[in-house]
Amino acid sequence: MLKEIFLSSAMALAFVPTSYAQLDILAQLAGKKYFGTATDNPELTNTSYVAQLGNTLDFHQLTPANSMKWENTEPERGVFTFAGGDQIVQQAQKHNQLMRGHNCVWHNQLASWVTDGNFDNATLLSIVENHCGTLVGHYKGQIVSWDVLNEIFNDDGTFRQSVFFNTTGTAYIATALRAARKADPKAKLYINDFNIEGSGAKSTALANLVKQLKADKVPIDGIGVQSHMIVGEIPSTMKDNLQMFADLGVEVAITELDVRMTLPETPALLEQQKKDYTTIIQACKEVKGCIGVTVWDWTDKFSWVPGTFAGQGAACPWDENFKKKPAYLGIVEGWLGL
Ligand code: G3I
Repeated sequence: MLKEIFLSSAMALAFVPTSYAQLDILAQLAGKKYFGTATDNPELTNTSYVAQLGNTLDFHQLTPANSMKWENTEPERGVFTFAGGDQIVQQAQKHNQLMRGHNCVWHNQLASWVTDGNFDNATLLSIVENHCGTLVGHYKGQIVSWDVLNEIFNDDGTFRQSVFFNTTGTAYIATALRAARKADPKAKLYINDFNIEGSGAKSTALANLVKQLKADKVPIDGIGVQSHMIVGEIPSTMKDNLQMFADLGVEVAITELDVRMTLPETPALLEQQKKDYTTIIQACKEVKGCIGVTVWDWTDKFSWVPGTFAGQGAACPWDENFKKKPAYLGIVEGWLGL
């Protein structure tokens, strides 16, 4: 089976592996699309982790999981700190990996001076403009795509009641996008969200917003579909929904993929997880406008899941000991269309 995968993948290989643990191939199989991973600064002290992070046979692209967020980049008004983000950019540049910026405006991990500032409409818009412009401008030419706006909808398709929405209505959305465009005209500007993998009220609301932004000549280049999934629960409408987004005339990217399970992991759960990874990768593969996939860290050792969902985890394609799981082969099979 694995031999056939290699023969059909048209890869020039020095050897034919005898087990998938020997494969390093996710990025190569993605072809014209990219395959990448999130990473975080504390992880960069682990030499085995860093070696795999820089393995360009598997990863074309990196996203910083935390260090570009508002609380880390403008912890006090007008005081910008880029050291953490710079470290991830340097790590990516060492290996010619693409960088995704994450993120300019989010209600979470937001500096408390913004949340608690009681700013009026005009002041908060100028704060958003300055934050996005300064952040995106600092990385001008080094970041291909930015999650300019993160998680701005509720699951029912209404706008999230963040300090930004409560103060400015939807005006902050155009302000953030315009500031980002001005700061780095070549960067692709995205709105990124979860629970928009399948069709539903939230996906429809986001599509309507993108149509409106385009009609208003506000710059918008892409939709980021986070894809924090649960084993056995991949929406059957995922491919069609990605196509629906792409049909709006924007890029689509799977930006934060992981597939969690209730622990302990079992062979049956790992097998279902493998199938789920295949389904998701195949959905992206088959939609021309889906330009790439990022896993939300590649190893269970550093996954965000157990810290947020008690009793759940094992969501990544590599286990806590950096061993490839069946999910890894699921990604391979997804890119190959098996
Ligand atoms: O920085 C503090 C550190 O000083 C302290 O000692 C430690 C103790 O718990 O906490 C550290 O902060 C943690 C931070 O990550 C940095 O490691 C926070 O507690 C923790 O909540 C935070 O979690 C991050 C989460 O966003 C916050 O919502 C995850 O690492 C990060 O992977 C996750 O990423 C988000 C995306 O940005 C948006 N989409 C959902 C995704 C998963 O939640």
